[in-house]
Amino acid sequence: MDTKTLLEWSAKYHTPNYGARAPLCLIRGDGIRVWDTEGRAYLDFGAGIAVTSLGHCHPRVTGAIQEAAATLLHVSNLYHSAPQIHLAKLLCEHSFADRVFFGNSGAEANEAAIKMARKYGKERGASDRFEIIATRNSFHGRTLATVTATGQEKYQHGFEPLMPGFKHVPYNDLRAMERAVDNRTAAILVEPIQGEGGVYVPDDGYLPGLRKLCDEAGVLLILDEIQTGVARTGRLWCYEHAGIEPDIMTLAKALANGVPIGATLCREEVASVLTPGTHGSTFGGTPFVCSVALATLSAILEDKIAERATARGRQLMDGLRTLATRRPTIREVRGRGLLIGAELDRPVAPVVDGCREAGLLVLSAGERVLRLAPPLIVEAADCARALEIIDGALGKAT
Ligand SMILES: Cc1ncc(COP(=O)(O)O)c(C=O)c1O
Repeated sequence: MDTKTLLEWSAKYHTPNYGARAPLCLIRGDGIRVWDTEGRAYLDFGAGIAVTSLGHCHPRVTGAIQEAAATLLHVSNLYHSAPQIHLAKLLCEHSFADRVFFGNSGAEANEAAIKMARKYGKERGASDRFEIIATRNSFHGRTLATVTATGQEKYQHGFEPLMPGFKHVPYNDLRAMERAVDNRTAAILVEPIQGEGGVYVPDDGYLPGLRKLCDEAGVLLILDEIQTGVARTGRLWCYEHAGIEPDIMTLAKALANGVPIGATLCREEVASVLTPGTHGSTFGGTPFVCSVALATLSAILEDKIAERATARGRQLMDGLRTLATRRPTIREVRGRGLLIGAELDRPVAPVVDGCREAGLLVLSAGERVLRLAPPLIVEAADCARALEIIDGALGKAT
């Protein structure tokens, strides 16, 4: 099938919600490279939006997929299955959590977190303790509850009435959060770094301040680590940088390197409110996806992938900052590990297009932020090449 026909059919048969997609059709991946139907290769510095952290077709992931597909794809949660048990154990052994619930996406992981927090608030506090305080400019998903939690009107417009029981305050503003918490608050929900909103890293005192506030007010702290988790920021979990632990953490994206999964991790006391029958998912935690996630997480731990993210992240951020001295189009470089944003003084779309035309796939975050989230296995030479291409694209766009 030729590319032109494929793109015409895409325009004809898909719902139009993804807007103007890039005019290429990707058919193959290997490591940090992907190829399109025309045989062109690209360096993939988006990794499917922070998903394929081990790169495309990583041998351990592919091996786990093949073996699981030939062994047992699906059983319902009416029964136990070994990969699900091993994955829950591994996640708990390497995090603050005592227990895990598995779903299929980030939004579902956050839905479970919101349901846990509401039930916990009502049972341990008072019948009207159900409110969730989230932050402006955040992103938590597209279901009705998570789009309500998302602090950006552009994602909510047209879907009103939104869910009751959510409030928003500015991100990285402890005083605003303190003022917003009252005896109706069940939980505070934040990303440890705002990803989609523009790669905003909060001040060092922000997460510890939220932890203290939650402890004093008897409120749960939910960290949405869907984008930041699984070594992306140079630690297995982003909360480790802040020296605190949440009560609930949500994961998805990189956990199975591209096979859909969501996970809601929590402390024992929080888990206890999810009594039998209160929550569930047909596809959540199948032997298939859990085998793939086990292979992914094991490789990330054994191959010290978080350390690689730190080193390559430093190289990219230093490189972008050096670039900024020559190209004032770059106003600020932010990020941690391999979640990096370069804020421009103009719309970023032409730079994203220019990079793609030169063989580099990058992301945007909001209107003006160029976002880099390459596979964590990226090599120094690939980062150097990406910086050259970005430099060229910035030159053309100014
Ligand atoms: C921080 C955060 N939360 C939630 C989500 C939603 O995840 P999903 O698209 O898997 O539902 C995303 C996706 O970009 C995200 O970055």
